[in-house]
Amino acid sequence: MSDTIILAIESSCDDTSAAVIQGNKILSNIAAGQEIHNEYGGVVPELASRAHQQNIIPVVVKSLNQANIDKNQISAIGFTRGPGLLGSLLVGTSFAKSLSMSLGVPLVEVNHLQAHILAHFIEDANPNPPQFPFLCLTVSGGHTMIVLVNDYFDMKIIGRTTDDAAGEAFDKIGKIFGLDYPAGPIIDRLAKEGDPKKFKFNKPRLEGYDYSFSGIKTSVLYFIQKELKQNPDFIQENIKDLCASVQQCIIEILMEKLEDAANDFRINEVAIAGGVSANSGLRNAMKENEEKLGWNIYIPKFEYTTDNAAMIAMVAQLKYERGEFCDLSVAATARYDFAEDLDTLKS
Ligand code: KG4
Ligand code: ZN
Repeated sequence: MSDTIILAIESSCDDTSAAVIQGNKILSNIAAGQEIHNEYGGVVPELASRAHQQNIIPVVVKSLNQANIDKNQISAIGFTRGPGLLGSLLVGTSFAKSLSMSLGVPLVEVNHLQAHILAHFIEDANPNPPQFPFLCLTVSGGHTMIVLVNDYFDMKIIGRTTDDAAGEAFDKIGKIFGLDYPAGPIIDRLAKEGDPKKFKFNKPRLEGYDYSFSGIKTSVLYFIQKELKQNPDFIQENIKDLCASVQQCIIEILMEKLEDAANDFRINEVAIAGGVSANSGLRNAMKENEEKLGWNIYIPKFEYTTDNAAMIAMVAQLKYERGEFCDLSVAATARYDFAEDLDTLKS
């Protein structure tokens, strides 16, 4: 890999992030979160765009300073083109375009989901990167899918959620429990001291490798409503067991399909990616399969799980090497396919 220096910008949701990469080595990876959304129980798109506008310059400056490089050393600008919130994406896209124009360097557009997966190729992400072909369970706040990765830019979606994403399920169920947004990390923390077998919730029965998470959310809601009628303190008294049981149920749903796919495709290189891959229960389930099923597992470092610009920089570097640049007419896009759908290929 070359030692080209690239600055990358990520602004698809509620974190403004900038990173500098040299080859596949991350020199800096800075993110500014947006606490403004906490009181609304979810991301408010208009507020997110405004916060990105405020954050983007300080975040980029900090990223360059921490990497100890001058902007004249940058060979290209990478940015997240989509998928994500359009207003948020527009801020990063416009900033990236202006910077590429003023520095006279090429622009590289990056698909956010592809970046979650290719984060595994960052130098310090794994002792050894995954070998192609590998399976990647990509689980975030907006997406849940099993991806067959044949090569860096040759990916096929084997299964996907038919309704809510796994992270969305964590967040919505957390909201039922009265937890702050995003509830995923809070449920993870509380679950560590709870009994995962205490409560049972409905699991979906879908064919193939597709997922569904709306059923578990409804099942938790009805269960809580029923219990609260008898005991108004039910949630407070059982919060740790509730979190542990919900987390266990979501992990079982995720892992059962992933195991089926690994078995059917005869692949034992298995990775996880995206915000929910930070979940300690999911990480443990992967480690168990390393021993039980002989998988070679790839679990991202925490800083490369939730949204970050380092993963955008990694993809920008791979595209730079391939001469894949875009021009200034490129537009941000809320929906952005990044892989072929196995179902579409079959039909
Ligand atoms: O990838 P990401 O940062 O943003 C999207 O692209 O959506 O994922 C955010 C999601 C949120 O739903 C959040 O609750 C979830 O990842 N998440 C977790 C954990 N950390 C973040 N879910 C469960 N356990 C965690 N430790
Ligand atoms: Zn993401």
